[in-house]
Amino acid sequence: MKRLNRFDKLVDRKNTNTEKWDGMKAKYNREDLLPLWIADMDFEVAEEISKRVEERAKHNVYGYAYCTDEYYNSIINWMERKHDWKVEKDWIMYTPGVISAVSFVIDGLTKPGDNIILQTPAYDPFYSIIEDHGCEVKDNPLILKDERYEIDFEDMENKIDENTKIILICSPHNPLGRVWTKEELEKISEIALKYNLMVISDEIHSEIIFDGHKHTTFATLSKEMENNCIICTSPTKAFNIAGLQVANLIIANEEIRNNVQKIIDKNHFIRPSIFGVESLMAAYDESEYWLEEVTEYIETNKNYFIDYLKKNIPEINVVEPGGSYLLWTDFSGLNLNLDELNTFLTDDCKLAFIDGQIFGKKGELFQRINIACPKSRLEEVLRRLDEGVKTLREK
Ligand SMILES: Cc1ncc(COP(=O)(O)O)c(C=O)c1O
Repeated sequence: MKRLNRFDKLVDRKNTNTEKWDGMKAKYNREDLLPLWIADMDFEVAEEISKRVEERAKHNVYGYAYCTDEYYNSIINWMERKHDWKVEKDWIMYTPGVISAVSFVIDGLTKPGDNIILQTPAYDPFYSIIEDHGCEVKDNPLILKDERYEIDFEDMENKIDENTKIILICSPHNPLGRVWTKEELEKISEIALKYNLMVISDEIHSEIIFDGHKHTTFATLSKEMENNCIICTSPTKAFNIAGLQVANLIIANEEIRNNVQKIIDKNHFIRPSIFGVESLMAAYDESEYWLEEVTEYIETNKNYFIDYLKKNIPEINVVEPGGSYLLWTDFSGLNLNLDELNTFLTDDCKLAFIDGQIFGKKGELFQRINIACPKSRLEEVLRRLDEGVKTLREK
């Protein structure tokens, strides 16, 4: 029996050393905001995960961890069951997180002066990872057409030159929540093969997908593509275990894998986190039912939030996502400039969202709102927005 009401529980996360709640002062310079910013959930994890972590914690010896066959089998089974992809053990490389994974790959596959195609707006660390390795971002802006973002394939091809090495995609896309169709991914694949480019596909958001949408793992497009792409994956977003530090690179191509391994070795990032390993296995092997429930709860939150805005605050418009728990929300209808908007949200409404401009120029006057929280918290967010906007309308 489904237990969706488990997600109604308001868990006090303050004073637990969490970035969303305890890191708010450092980011927003105040502590009295409702935080809907960084991408983790305010929900308790599946009982199977907490049990496993508690049991391991009780063991009281916390020496170096090791990825056993059980760990690899969890990933292999999950990828086959959920994503229709048969993965071999040797293809899997543990990393502490997807950001570090993308950084290792870019370090291993490029040299300073190379460039990387990126669809923008884009997850903000992608810009710095690319630039920190001396490479250039080739901006391939997404086009907003009829309330939906589309990839500009013509622009993508035009941006490719002799220094282009990689197409970096975020699938599904953060901050837009767009789930790319198989046809769109096939076009990227065609371009990558035509110009001999590697594709890095960050699929950290691939587990929370709404009705009517389907995620396609990039490597399943063809055998040729399987050998020409790198999949970054992790259970951390979907199962709310980002603090436990676990992610995986899956690379079928042995030569590419060896290049990336050299970088991992060079950075001495070789040992996993004990609780990361335990929680991954509990998530993939035992908690699929919880993922289905949380997806349903988040989809209901999303529908509630969007419907409420349409009916009551049409000046604020969410671009409908196909997955994830991040809402890309257009505030331009309030007719405020950027500073005024940020002051309005923090000082008047006491809300902490993420300012869309950190994802790229076109994100100005957008905000990214994290709705992975109890519905009652979203009701409070909407109440505050309602009140704030009423005051603006009266001015
Ligand atoms: C697209 C994307 N990639 C990577 C990450 C971060 O992954 P990790 O915490 O595993 O480094 C996030 C977190 O929000 C994300 O949205």
